[in-house]
Formats: sequence, C-alpha cells, structure tokens
Amino acid sequence: MARRKKLAKNSTMRHLIAKLNPRSPISEQYRTIRTNLQFSSVDGNLKTMLVTSSGPSEGKSSTTANLAIVFAQQGKKVLLIDADMRKPTLHYTFRMDNRKGLSSVLVGETNLDESVIKSDVQDLDLLSCGPIPPNPSELLGAKAMEKLIADASEFYDLIIFDTPPVLAVTDAQILANMVDGALMVVRSKQTEYEAAQKARDLLTPAKAKLLGVVLNDREQKKGHYYYYGTN
Ligand SMILES: Nc1ncnc2c1ncn2[C@@H]1O[C@H](COP(=O)(O)OP(=O)(O)OP(=O)(O)O)[C@@H](O)[C@H]1O
Ligand SMILES: [Mg+2]
Repeated sequence: MARRKKLAKNSTMRHLIAKLNPRSPISEQYRTIRTNLQFSSVDGNLKTMLVTSSGPSEGKSSTTANLAIVFAQQGKKVLLIDADMRKPTLHYTFRMDNRKGLSSVLVGETNLDESVIKSDVQDLDLLSCGPIPPNPSELLGAKAMEKLIADASEFYDLIIFDTPPVLAVTDAQILANMVDGALMVVRSKQTEYEAAQKARDLLTPAKAKLLGVVLNDREQKKGHYYYYGTN
C-alpha cells in the first residue's frame, strides 16, 4: 500500500519531456523510435499498438505517453489509453479526472465520446483507466474491448495502450491479440535478461507483431532512449 502511494505521488510529478522540451536529445530519441516503428510495421500503417515490459517500473507509462506525444506532433490523430487497470497513471501524468474511463466504457456505464478527453497537445486525446475494476483481464478480453478499438479506429490514426507488466498478469497478452503491434520496454540495469526473454516468448504467439524493444534509462550523455528492432 505504501509503495503504491509513493508511486502515485511520483506520477503526479512526472514531466513529459516530448511536450516540455521537444528539442532535447531525449525527445529526439522518441522521434527516432517513432520513425523506426513506422518502418517496422508491415505495410507502413500502424494503427493500434501497446507498450509493455516484463516487470514493474521499467518505463512503460513514460514511454507510452512520450511516444503518443511525438506521434501527435507529427499531425496524427492519436488516442492514448491507460489499459493498466492495476496501476493506472495516465490521469496523474496529464492531471485529469479519472471518474470515467476505459473501465466505465467497457462495462457500458458510459461511451467513448463521453469519456475521451482532449489533452493540451494538439491531436492527442486521452482515455484514462476509470475506476479500478475487480476483474481487469476479463474486461480487457471482452467483446466490448474489440468494439471500443473498432470504434476508435474510425476516428483516430493511432491508438496506443499502456499496459501492466507481461510477467505479472495476462492483460498485455490479451490486448496483444487485439492490436497490430507490441513494443517492449527494458530498463538498463534493472530488467533481467531471462525476464525480457520470457516476456518476449509470451508475446510472440499473439496477433500483434512484436515491433521492437526500447532500452530505457541507458547511461550515456546524449539521451536516455535507444531503439533496437527485433528483426
Ligand atoms: N529514463 C528514465 N530516467 C529517469 N526516471 C525514469 C526513466 N524512466 C522511468 N523513470 C521513472 O521511473 C518510474 C517508473 O516509470 P514508469 O511509470 O514509466 O514505469 P512503468 O513500467 O509504467 O511502471 P509500472 O509497472 O508501475 O506501471 C517513474 O517514476 C518514472 O518517472
Ligand atoms: Mg505504468
């Protein structure tokens, strides 16, 4: 409990470098990841993707939010969805209300139009997690989720999901069967080699193409993010 509170507090202090300082080398790294993602998708048209990692605190949420921003800065209509119904952070990061969100749309309490919020980044819309449900995996695997993706795909050029760690719960695997691509984050000096391999093996059979791996928090002067393709 104490740990979760601490994380939440950290999250409120989170800065989105791609928004605050688009000219920084780190933002440039995010743009490089964006370019690589665009090239790695089969037909050059990546429409739905998720970001995940093997374990906790490896940088999934920061990577997802910054990537969503650089895609929107390119003029794409982007919807960023917090599908981490275990430890949601999107509403802290963008300082928004979380009374309505993904969970409330999935249980039919509200609809997508009523729950999506415009961010202060042009072309970037947000869907927070909503009230934490008792059964996240079940909700994510429901027909309602497929409908939500289909509905959102009509309006948005890119839908990007933040998810929980692959080795902890099945949520990311479930979503990986509904989206076009999955991006894995590993954190320098934290992610164990075997854990990353196991996460990759769990994601490989999914419908989503494994798009690549982002190495987060790498110690070096120019920036923090490096991208390696899986091919
Ligand atoms: N490259 C980095 N440099 C410094 N701090 C970072 C970096 N990447 C992530 N962090 C910090 O580490 C913490 C965890 O990052 P983040 O929330 O993005 O990870 P996560 O994988 O989504 O975690 P969770 O498993 O809890 O959802 C946050 O406080 C974040 O600000
Ligand atoms: Mg997270």
